[in-house]
Amino acid sequence: MRIALGSDHAGFQLRNCIREFLQDSSYLTGDFGAEGSDKPCDYPDAAFEVGVRVARSEYDLGILVCGTGIGMSIAANKIPGIRAALAYDEETGRLAREHNNANILALGGRKTDCETAIRIVKAWLSADFEASRHLLRIDKIKSFEEGAAMIRDRLNSPPRLVTFDHPLIQHKIGIIRDRNTSVKAFRELVQEIAGLMVYETTRNLQLEPVTVETPITTTTAYSLSGKKIAIVPILRAGLGMVDGILQLIPNAKVGHIGLYRDPETLEPVEYYCKLPGDIGERDIIIVDPMLATGGSAVAAIDLVKKRGGKKVSLLSLIAAPEGVARVHERHPDVDIFTAALDSHLNDHGYIVPGLGDAGDRLFGTR
Ligand code: RB5
Repeated sequence: MRIALGSDHAGFQLRNCIREFLQDSSYLTGDFGAEGSDKPCDYPDAAFEVGVRVARSEYDLGILVCGTGIGMSIAANKIPGIRAALAYDEETGRLAREHNNANILALGGRKTDCETAIRIVKAWLSADFEASRHLLRIDKIKSFEEGAAMIRDRLNSPPRLVTFDHPLIQHKIGIIRDRNTSVKAFRELVQEIAGLMVYETTRNLQLEPVTVETPITTTTAYSLSGKKIAIVPILRAGLGMVDGILQLIPNAKVGHIGLYRDPETLEPVEYYCKLPGDIGERDIIIVDPMLATGGSAVAAIDLVKKRGGKKVSLLSLIAAPEGVARVHERHPDVDIFTAALDSHLNDHGYIVPGLGDAGDRLFGTR
């Protein structure tokens, strides 16, 4: 077994004593950190040297020593995959393995003498992880680490534009682009596409296990556990997508935002806004079939955020690059989901090739 040892200056002597014991017991050791007890070394440096090597499986386990062992355990536990346990006696050394499957043992060079430290190390090394109920708890820590890593990635990554290349979606988009498609067919297809898109966008919703009695036996099934959803159509064309989404998420609440486009400035003007009272606790999907200049989308997101909305995404059937850029410039935290990213806007602010005015085509007002 390979064990990485590390210490700061305050743990230097105890580290030497532990190394001697480990080598006499035929463990392979690596040595990191302070070069002497009178040469200051910051404990995080040694903790990260050893912790990263253990997390990467260069070593099976690690032992870290500072004055109290506290700083080492705090620092090492920042590394995903590391479970560093501070132990002051044999029992905590043993339990650190049996219950926590600690892959790093932290010791206090100013608190623990060499003889005691060796007894702790022996107890830790000879114990086995009990798994059973403890496994679930460790899995919870692991899931949290993975979740935190995802959030970090999101914060460091550029805003997302997701286009759907699913053949069913693309086939239906082709039909609604056609100027000869009837109002009835257009309306039905918009609902269908919205439903298919939301099926994809909700892929990462969180589940929790629930116990269910089937006619045959009792089993564990899954139920949605995460935040609830609010769908917010931008009036009026957004209405055309709501039923398709509600078919899949019938418990979603629906807010409405009324905006019209000033024909001269092409800028949106608000005339109506009614959102669910608990909007701040919901995942919000703003829906509008066309993301053209981005003016309405930005105004709608502004309104939703002003009223407490935090996690917002935007769902459109067809988007123009100008609209995508404008939304992401103002709201880089908002994911945009679209079935087609078209070429550009014409002089009247229509998407090219697009499908014309989605509101008129949905409601037959042309
Ligand atoms: C160093 O003086 C001391 O603070 C350090 O070894 C450690 O005890 C920190 O937690």
